[in-house]
Amino acid sequence: ININVELQDGSRVTLEAPTDMGLSVMEVMKANELNVPAICGGMAICATCHVEVLQSGELPEPSDDEAYMLETLPHATATSRLSCQLKVKPELDGLVVRLMPEA
Ligand code: FES
Repeated sequence: ININVELQDGSRVTLEAPTDMGLSVMEVMKANELNVPAICGGMAICATCHVEVLQSGELPEPSDDEAYMLETLPHATATSRLSCQLKVKPELDGLVVRLMPEA
């Protein structure tokens, strides 16, 4: 599937993301050498993988851990997510996310 990422400078890149490897959106961004610290390695406790979802189909609801972390973020918006908690699935094709200041 394709995932589109708006970078901190406003430019957009399109990434190819395999759906059969159990990867998260964060892992796909890192694999493409985008600047995503993801310090906690996908445990939903650092928020350095914070993205704002600009366009998507149906997304799974955030877990309690993810929702709690998002509430603490100064730059969070109504569509903020932790990209490490978004698993790459066919429904995510065409997803557009923006990297947020924490990332
Ligand atoms: Fe730390 Fe996502 S990588 S919260």
